[in-house]
Amino acid sequence: MTEPLLAWSDEEGAGRAAALFAAALGGEPDGVWASPGRVNLIGEHVDYNGGLCLPMALPHRTFAAVRRRDDDVVRLVSALAPDEAWTGTLGGIAPGLVSSWVAYAGGTAWSLGQAGHALGGFDAAIASCVPLGAGLSSSAAIECAVALALDELFDLGLAASGDAGRAHLAAVCVRAENEVAGAPTGGMDQAASLRATAGHALLLDTLDHSVAQVPFHLAEAGLELLVIDTRAEHALVDGQYAARRAACHAAAARLGVGTLREVDDLPAALAALPDPVEQQRVRHVVTEIARVEQFVALVRDDRVREVGPLMDASHESLRLDYEVSCDELDVAVVSARAAGALGARMTGGGFGGSAIALVEESSVGAVGAAVTEAFVDRGWPEPGLLIASAAPGGARVRPVPPP
Ligand code: GLA
Repeated sequence: MTEPLLAWSDEEGAGRAAALFAAALGGEPDGVWASPGRVNLIGEHVDYNGGLCLPMALPHRTFAAVRRRDDDVVRLVSALAPDEAWTGTLGGIAPGLVSSWVAYAGGTAWSLGQAGHALGGFDAAIASCVPLGAGLSSSAAIECAVALALDELFDLGLAASGDAGRAHLAAVCVRAENEVAGAPTGGMDQAASLRATAGHALLLDTLDHSVAQVPFHLAEAGLELLVIDTRAEHALVDGQYAARRAACHAAAARLGVGTLREVDDLPAALAALPDPVEQQRVRHVVTEIARVEQFVALVRDDRVREVGPLMDASHESLRLDYEVSCDELDVAVVSARAAGALGARMTGGGFGGSAIALVEESSVGAVGAAVTEAFVDRGWPEPGLLIASAAPGGARVRPVPPP
């Protein structure tokens, strides 16, 4: 069994990003900013349907060492390809002009410009301990770390103004992901990366983008949240995600509602939809939003031990009605439950990526070992493991902000 992946400290992440900056771009950055990946506790594929979701930020973050420039040149480098810095200009970053991680790192600058913010060029070096392609929002973490850096270096004052400014930055990052990277995702990941607070899950209402901080202290209940990266390929730009989104919007239009959040009589809605696939999609979305409400009510009532069946039901709904699971995710949740997890489900977009399991602190090792054995028995690579605790949203980590 692989050991759980530990998160980098401020010092380690900032040190790595600054060292990459010096080696690939030369000199010192003005600062280092970090923003986290996330897991979603419950509320999957509802963020583009006006629904409720409940992500929390991971302690695993992406670090961006950034220096403001006096011209309009942009230079970007990633620790994954330290010898291949990308050089261009602000005007050269736009939909259709850049791809892969450059779209995430640079796209944020384009999107800030579209929102009316005046920027100049910049140099940025990116290093991350958020597993890539694991459905843990490594892309949003890049966008949000760069957005925080540009916000501060170009005196936009957004993050400093509190949650409203962070919500604006999150919307900017979503636009970068949708239009520059071409991934038609909702807004959950960027909200978690920028608006989460330590010790809380983030209840996000995607109808109006309002949030509530829900205290979430698993350790006090003797529990842990184990994240299982199936290592099965996860891609949101391959059309399946967009197809789910389109089916939901078509169903909403047929039902005469703005979003599926407005469906309050599920049997009547299902009866009004001739297409069985649209019926399945709507049933998932409407029941999933109800599960989020029940989950939050239990957590607020200090009954976090009782949320397991809601996680299991969410997974079944995603597997059968929404059809976004896969063999690796199903084996991960089934074997975690069989080894004693209180509940388990896929998290994030699906089609690969990660699952989460709620486990007794004392049985984390046993559950991790059981899932690993189930994978190895099938001839699959060993899954990656990490422990999630409710971490804060992104911030500057160097120079260390004043207390
Ligand atoms: C991906 C997207 C999110 C959300 C989830 C599914 O993570 O980026 O916006 O739609 O899938 O809940």
